[in-house]
Amino acid sequence: MKSLISKRVASVPPSGIRRFFDIAATMPDVISLGIGEPDFVTPDPILREGIASLKRGETRYTSNSGTAELRAALSEHLQALYGVAYHPEDELLITVGVSEALYLAMTAIIDPGDEVIVPQPCFVAYTAEVVFAGGVPVPIATSVENSFQVTGAEIEACITPRTKAILIGYPNNPTGAVLTRERMLEIAVVAEKHDLLVISDEIYDRLVYGVRHTCFAQLPGMRDRTILLSGFSKDYAMTGWRIGYMAANKELLGAARKVHQYTIMSAPTTAQAAAIVALQHGEEHVQRMVAEYDRRRRLIVSGCNALGLDCFEPRGAFYAFPAVKRSGMDDEEFADRLLAEEHVAVIPGNAFGAGGAGYVRMAYAQSYEKIEQALERMQTFMRRHG
Ligand SMILES: Cc1ncc(COP(=O)(O)O)c(C=O)c1O
Repeated sequence: MKSLISKRVASVPPSGIRRFFDIAATMPDVISLGIGEPDFVTPDPILREGIASLKRGETRYTSNSGTAELRAALSEHLQALYGVAYHPEDELLITVGVSEALYLAMTAIIDPGDEVIVPQPCFVAYTAEVVFAGGVPVPIATSVENSFQVTGAEIEACITPRTKAILIGYPNNPTGAVLTRERMLEIAVVAEKHDLLVISDEIYDRLVYGVRHTCFAQLPGMRDRTILLSGFSKDYAMTGWRIGYMAANKELLGAARKVHQYTIMSAPTTAQAAAIVALQHGEEHVQRMVAEYDRRRRLIVSGCNALGLDCFEPRGAFYAFPAVKRSGMDDEEFADRLLAEEHVAVIPGNAFGAGGAGYVRMAYAQSYEKIEQALERMQTFMRRHG
């Protein structure tokens, strides 16, 4: 039988991350620095509110947009943190994680052949979602020389009459880079000049170390050009609850909500109740987790550098992205052999697109002690190969 799968879907390779999980799952004693999710359990008050909501019998759909209470709390949160005003009624949409919000954004704005500029290395879903929606991803390789930040000039050089949007994700997965306000302003100028949308995935906005996060929508003139995507998975250790959101002007949000209505109906009800508590009482827990990530971050960065795995200093998210050149291997071989020989799982940088080859992603969303052990194993590995 000939393949009946759509060419668009067939053209996207499976995620390069999964393969490592599958191999690691078959091995005893693996230390995984591969997984991009918090090792913390969701903070207790948030957890309890989820349980309480279920016990109150809140087991039905909510409004398509999400509960009015959560949207009101979110609107206040974004105003307080970033000074950006989103109307809870028609400018905020509660989604099944940023994953769904990303899908909605792409489906809402892309016509066949539209181009979306995607600075890389980046979260593995970005280019796939552009392709699934019928668009054409236009990658830009960022580099360690520029601290893995994309510049306005690099973006401008890629613009064609088909360019519709720029899709950025900072603090960045996999590099841990943050985008300075100056760089953001460069992008804002280009977006304005060429009448482009900016889709900004800010899921790691609260996980920053010694720097302040700037929300793209808070830049002058950018609120109505920005589709802001964010959520609860990383900041509040809520990956399994499947909850996130989109914030955008009424027209853009309305288009996304239409897709959401027909494909999802509403985000998980229990998670919506819990998310209100996250926004209203989660701050001390966020700060506690950030302090712990920061301790691990310093350990892993100095540990890698001491082993000759030159590591750019990540200022956000929970990833280190060291270069593996000194091992004499490329990133694929390094990750394969480190897993086979020392049972430490890391992800090859090329899984994250252009500019990722020669690096590996190590997530420090893993206990301090495990990271210490992983570094010891890597020392043995580098003695053998370095
Ligand atoms: C940059 C980035 N965006 C989005 C997601 C997906 O998040 P969610 O759990 O909200 O769907 C991830 C998860 O790893 C991510 O790293």
